[in-house]
Amino acid sequence: MDISTRNNGRTVQELLRCAAEEATRAPSVLNTQPWRWHVGEDGLDLHADRTRQLHAIDPAGRLLILSCGAALHHARVALAASGINPSVRRYPDAADPDLLARVRSGGIQPVRAEDAAAADAMRQRRTDRRPFLASGPATGDTLDALHAAATAEDTTLHRIDGDQIAYLRAAEHGAQIIEAKDERRREELREWTGRPAEKGDGVPPETVAGPTPRPVPLRGFGLGDRAALTPGTGDDRSAGYLLLATRTDEPAAWLRAGEAVSAVWLTAISLGLAVSPMSDAVEVPGARALLRSLLPHGGNPQLVLRVGADPGSPPPASPRRPTGDVIGDETGP
Ligand SMILES: Cc1cc2nc3c(=O)[nH]c(=O)nc-3n(C[C@H](O)[C@H](O)[C@H](O)COP(=O)(O)O)c2cc1C
Repeated sequence: MDISTRNNGRTVQELLRCAAEEATRAPSVLNTQPWRWHVGEDGLDLHADRTRQLHAIDPAGRLLILSCGAALHHARVALAASGINPSVRRYPDAADPDLLARVRSGGIQPVRAEDAAAADAMRQRRTDRRPFLASGPATGDTLDALHAAATAEDTTLHRIDGDQIAYLRAAEHGAQIIEAKDERRREELREWTGRPAEKGDGVPPETVAGPTPRPVPLRGFGLGDRAALTPGTGDDRSAGYLLLATRTDEPAAWLRAGEAVSAVWLTAISLGLAVSPMSDAVEVPGARALLRSLLPHGGNPQLVLRVGADPGSPPPASPRRPTGDVIGDETGP
């Protein structure tokens, strides 16, 4: 069966466009969706959209590139699930550092069960900020699968537990105090939690749980009592915390770490887990240094993922920008 038969007669170019559309589901810092896709005849180009960078919270653009990496991995998953082997060149043009990746068809391949499962997980995925009731990656097999997902993207995964939880709590607490005192950061949080609906971006207050006691405090987005997600009966005491880290600390490593964020998250969903990222401790240099001290073999902290048993009913979905604003081709923007 050829690719167009298997995909209802769609051409490779149409499948590439579908993959870019699927990639708009990716998570991104404050739901900024800081990416642009260009669909060409033979492939997709992924660009960083610097107009959507958070200059106070993310001056280096680390979280912007991590978000684009998650979108790149989503596009790879969508292509693999439609029977195309994605071939990726990262940073293909030294003269254009915001051209992050070129994705081409590397030929037709059978759809593996894990590709289909990852695509299903991609369609279900939501950030779940409620306190978890039951344990995250407690068993060896689950943790092994999450490790393997990160390693395949040149990223290490370290589970923070035992005595190290106190250090994570201190890093988060310290970062949140610094963020609360910084007017420019507060202003960015206000902007991205109060976006007009037609923009299709930002963090809606109904996706954020109100203040609730937890062993490790989560970012409140400055919403206070306006946070409108019912926290439920969990207390996060058995949540797991996974620290993703890279050997080097430059944009190419951030892109790979973003791909790992998506790969680990989709694997977690396939294993019945729910996830929310925590980037505040990575944003503040002192807190990031504390996280670095938790890595047994050294490395550069990129993101913490909080993981727990999926509570069942999903939290509300966050909006997405119109695809016409994000995906262009020879005829359009
Ligand atoms: C790099 C990155 C950093 C993030 N940081 C946080 C964070 O500190 N706290 C949080 O609650 N969510 C965080 N998120 C989750 C985003 O807010 C979320 O992906 C976005 O609002 C879209 O919602 P969705 O994931 O449900 O589609 C982060 C996501 C990414 C990719």
